[in-house]
Amino acid sequence: MIRKIHHVGIVVERLDDARGFYGGILGLPLVKEAVVPDQRVRAALFAAGESEIELIEPLDRESGVARFLARHGEGLHHLCFHTPDVTADLADLRRRDVALIDVVPRQGLAGRIAFLHPRACAGVLVELATPPEEHGAAVAGPLALKRVVVGVDDPRAATAAFQALFGLPELPINGGARTMLGVGQGAILLVPAGEAGDTGGLLAVSLVAEDFDAFTRRCQDAGIALLRGTGEVTIEPALSHGVPLHVSRHRFP
Ligand code: CO
Repeated sequence: MIRKIHHVGIVVERLDDARGFYGGILGLPLVKEAVVPDQRVRAALFAAGESEIELIEPLDRESGVARFLARHGEGLHHLCFHTPDVTADLADLRRRDVALIDVVPRQGLAGRIAFLHPRACAGVLVELATPPEEHGAAVAGPLALKRVVVGVDDPRAATAAFQALFGLPELPINGGARTMLGVGQGAILLVPAGEAGDTGGLLAVSLVAEDFDAFTRRCQDAGIALLRGTGEVTIEPALSHGVPLHVSRHRFP
């Protein structure tokens, strides 16, 4: 039922500041922006290949997003999968007694959406979205979402849980205890929380650059410090609103 990663959701203090980084410095094209009264947030979606990056600013101090921000600071909040029929999926999940936050779909920025409870998905807050028809085509931009890194107690158990819920194929990797699931052109890398400083949940995002050299030049020109690895650079979370962000030259591995 799952076609691809629709977006990763990032909670930020001020959307306009975060827009300066994601839209301005990274150059991601804005797809859509709106106040979502239901969730008491202002949110914007930016194109990243077949997926998007959602920035979410709470509009009060009481919403779930506001409480997340107060507790954790800015950073990765949820992972959203694109499904052709969120209503049917939700009915199926309900029949299987999967822990849900939304028992019926509601209107969100990405279309008809619903959230599963994190305890259903190895501690990750997962959203399902069925976008409206006109929102189907991907917008071309300089970066594409490649991988989302998730810390879990037991990658094998988490892989089984994600496969049972969403039917995602497991991809072969030489990762020791790590596992990887394919989602459309992207992937979810599951790493033992012990390897990641005992941190669980969404840990990092990897993007692939259309033109890697142009991208790194642009960051340098903007005064963004890059940690250089092999075929990859990392942007400090302090600059990317709490998100460890890797940008690579190649889509694989
Ligand atoms: Co979302």
